[in-house]
Amino acid sequence: MGLNIKQIRSDFPILHQQVYNKPLIYLDNGATTQKPQVVIDTVRELQETRNSSIHRGVHYLSDQMTDRYEAARETVRAFLNAASTNEIIFTSGATGSINAVAFSFGEKFVTAGDEIVISEMEHHSNIVPWQMLCDRKGASIKVIPFYDNGELILEKLDDLLTDRTRIVALTHASNSMGTINPVKEVIKKAHAKGIPVLLDGAQMVQHGEVDVRELDCDFYIFSSHKIFGPTGSGVLYGKESILEELPPYQGGGDMVDQVTFERTSYNTLPFKFEAGTTNYTGAIGLAAALDYLQSIGFEAIGRYEQELTGYTLEKLGGIDGLKIYGTAANRISVFSFLMQNIHPYDAGMILDKMGIAVRTGTHCTQPVMDHFGIDGTIRASLVFYNTMEEVDALIEGIQRTIQMLS
Ligand code: ALA
Repeated sequence: MGLNIKQIRSDFPILHQQVYNKPLIYLDNGATTQKPQVVIDTVRELQETRNSSIHRGVHYLSDQMTDRYEAARETVRAFLNAASTNEIIFTSGATGSINAVAFSFGEKFVTAGDEIVISEMEHHSNIVPWQMLCDRKGASIKVIPFYDNGELILEKLDDLLTDRTRIVALTHASNSMGTINPVKEVIKKAHAKGIPVLLDGAQMVQHGEVDVRELDCDFYIFSSHKIFGPTGSGVLYGKESILEELPPYQGGGDMVDQVTFERTSYNTLPFKFEAGTTNYTGAIGLAAALDYLQSIGFEAIGRYEQELTGYTLEKLGGIDGLKIYGTAANRISVFSFLMQNIHPYDAGMILDKMGIAVRTGTHCTQPVMDHFGIDGTIRASLVFYNTMEEVDALIEGIQRTIQMLS
């Protein structure tokens, strides 16, 4: 069955407003997605009637909130098809999750002379934490390059995976070019040499089903706010056998078993990695977002987004002097482009005045811009609540911008 877009849009109150007396056309979903009413209601209900610290109280509210929080963990487990809730850690977001792995994994497994393999299309949050680790340990980064169409040069991976490689950290989908990477092949190649793989799913989970057991990845991370949930929350999935071996990356309440001044023993999984009062409201809000997505179904979402992608590419391709950066065959509905010699920031400002929200700049992927020798792009990132009519409005906006500025 197709999607009822009108019905879906009515679930997102923020979409029904005017900016500068124009209907809002929100095409910046790669940066953050909007929230359906059910997520807004869930967060509000928790604040109004349930708020209480989890895992600590013996009283009614604390019990209730703890149950909801642990139910949210089960929702995330089922969403990723993880084997156990012990493998689901709630964090502050995708960045928090990668930093956690870079620190804990790095402490345990990385020493001087070791190598970390990432790709040329990583978001800064999947580069910098590894660089910080390398600085601490005297290790180095190796980079899988991509072709000009935004597809990984997979053949290079064989040479990059050496007996010093400790982990491969790769984005599942590129936030600036839209490429969906052949992650299963990468995992297969890495595992053949006994090397674990972390996948950054921040730009993938909102577009298609992810099954961590089928992928056989060792870590999978994503943010709540990019998948229609609240900000400040995210997920770190890790295989239980690996998480068991890793030291915690933060110390504090709840992650401990016994504490004396002489020594501390740690809590079991997943609590070992959740120090302090976590963002329980965010986690439960995320679960509400995942339930909402499941009620629509990824099959229908995927089909619709593919149509939207084909339509957008065709329309963008028809504009004289417009160049698309990232034309991989397997892709999400994220489009980076430049128009003639117009600076992306100027174009973004003009589109904004037409009510069209796009992102401009490097999209936290400076090495991607360096690859193309450009300062930045304009990026339109669409999800299943966007429409063909909105794409038409974008195209018209681009044409008017070109007329005004070139
Ligand atoms: N990482 C987010 C983006 O791609 C902020 O826009």
